[in-house]
Amino acid sequence: MDFTAHTGAIEKKRISCLIAGVYEKNKLTESAELINHLSEGMTLKILKQENFKGQPGDLLLLHQVPGCKADRLLLVGLGKKKDVNAKKYCKALSAAAKKVAESAVKQVLSTLVEVPVETHGTHWKARQTALLFQDACYRFTELKSEPGDLPNLDQVLVHCKSQEEAKSAARGMKEGKAIAEGMRLCKDLANLPGNVCTPGYLAETALKLADEYSKLKVQILEETDMEKLGMGALLAVSKGSRQPAKLIVLEYKGGKAKDQPVALVGKGLTFDAGGISLKPSQAMDEMKYDMCGGASVLGTLKTIAQLDLPLNVVGVVPSSENLPDGDAIKPGDIVKTMAGKTVEILNTDAEGRLILCDALTYTERFNPKTVIDIATLTGACVVALGKHATGLFANDDSLAQALLEAGEASLDRAWRMPLWEEYQEQLKSNFADMPNIGDRNAGAITAACFLARFTENFHWAHLDIAGTAWHSGANKGATGRPVPLLSEYLISQVET
Ligand code: BES
Ligand code: MN
Ligand code: ZN
Repeated sequence: MDFTAHTGAIEKKRISCLIAGVYEKNKLTESAELINHLSEGMTLKILKQENFKGQPGDLLLLHQVPGCKADRLLLVGLGKKKDVNAKKYCKALSAAAKKVAESAVKQVLSTLVEVPVETHGTHWKARQTALLFQDACYRFTELKSEPGDLPNLDQVLVHCKSQEEAKSAARGMKEGKAIAEGMRLCKDLANLPGNVCTPGYLAETALKLADEYSKLKVQILEETDMEKLGMGALLAVSKGSRQPAKLIVLEYKGGKAKDQPVALVGKGLTFDAGGISLKPSQAMDEMKYDMCGGASVLGTLKTIAQLDLPLNVVGVVPSSENLPDGDAIKPGDIVKTMAGKTVEILNTDAEGRLILCDALTYTERFNPKTVIDIATLTGACVVALGKHATGLFANDDSLAQALLEAGEASLDRAWRMPLWEEYQEQLKSNFADMPNIGDRNAGAITAACFLARFTENFHWAHLDIAGTAWHSGANKGATGRPVPLLSEYLISQVET
């Protein structure tokens, strides 16, 4: 899809669809006012006739409006003028984008950059426009024999009042498109079933990414390499699987050689049946998404490589399946981690922390400035925060703050949870250095506490995306989160 800044008279542009905003009580934005004037009041008359409420996301599609060269005029509700915030603005944009994606429209000209939104300028508004239009056109049809009706949209023009505004809009759209493409990769991988998207498939995807971008280097560690490194926890999870585990290591070198990298470590469990501690069969298919952490790492690296960010970033994705088998690990088994600590596996379904602890220890060799792990780690996090916020844990306050802010700015929000010493007491084993689970209470926190024991040597944050990485129900599918949050964070690291 092509995104371009547009300057010039909107009414003179031959285009399949012009988009203009309308506030509550039919108060018109500047562009809507202009079209209303040229149509000799017809636009406002129809809005009244249709009883248009003008709430964020309300839509009214008109055809062949007199005085305007566009085939269609899509009017979008924005709510009260003084109340338009980032969320309402994106709700309106997203509704417009979905409507367009379901129609025959091939090109749109959006005038919504003229709408004041809190402290956000043209750059942010243009970025969200590109991101939301590209994302609204996402379809996962790879495995259907008939793809059905696909979106026709191939060009989005963003109307700007000056060359200067057009310049910031172009920069914003480039970012928005790159973030949406990272989200697309993340969603495609997550939506693919476990029989296609195996650890080997994730590794292949990483190899292809490195082919595509010259600043990306990839290395795939095999089980024999893991044995040499002493990754007993990662290997323990993979024991019950016939698919060999992989440890994917991607290095993006956009910064100076001496710049310490940011490390992103993503859980890449391509199917989690629970192992011998087998999960109930209800909705078990959804456990194909248990690699969303890893997929978001690959997606974010694609985004930053496309943007050519002047940063060094390392992506580490431990990938395995978790299945029951005669060879699988059993409750009570004790394994030795790469860090040398022993773990009593009381529940084989708490496997994410096992593959992550070895990947986190491995990450130390890159001397990272910060390490962020991303994982669909606990059902308890979904109980605590639902599907809206990602659970954020950190051993460093300024890192936590920066991630919270990146979540706000990208509307891909996280909420901080405690990592107090008191919770560590729930992790005690009679037979090994620690168990892999705590008691019934505070499951998301004790999982993070487990990881914290392997991250004492660096600034670290953990994102539990069990609730935010996918939609269940009729809309079942991956969300692409937290690619927007991670991309925003990395972009902010360049600016500071
Ligand atoms: N992948 C799951 C966590 C999960 C659950 C993600 C639901 C998304 C939705 C993880 O491996 C797991 O099974 N965790 C257990 C931990 C428990 C055994 C301590 C859980 O949350 O039930
Ligand atoms: Mn599990
Ligand atoms: Zn899992």
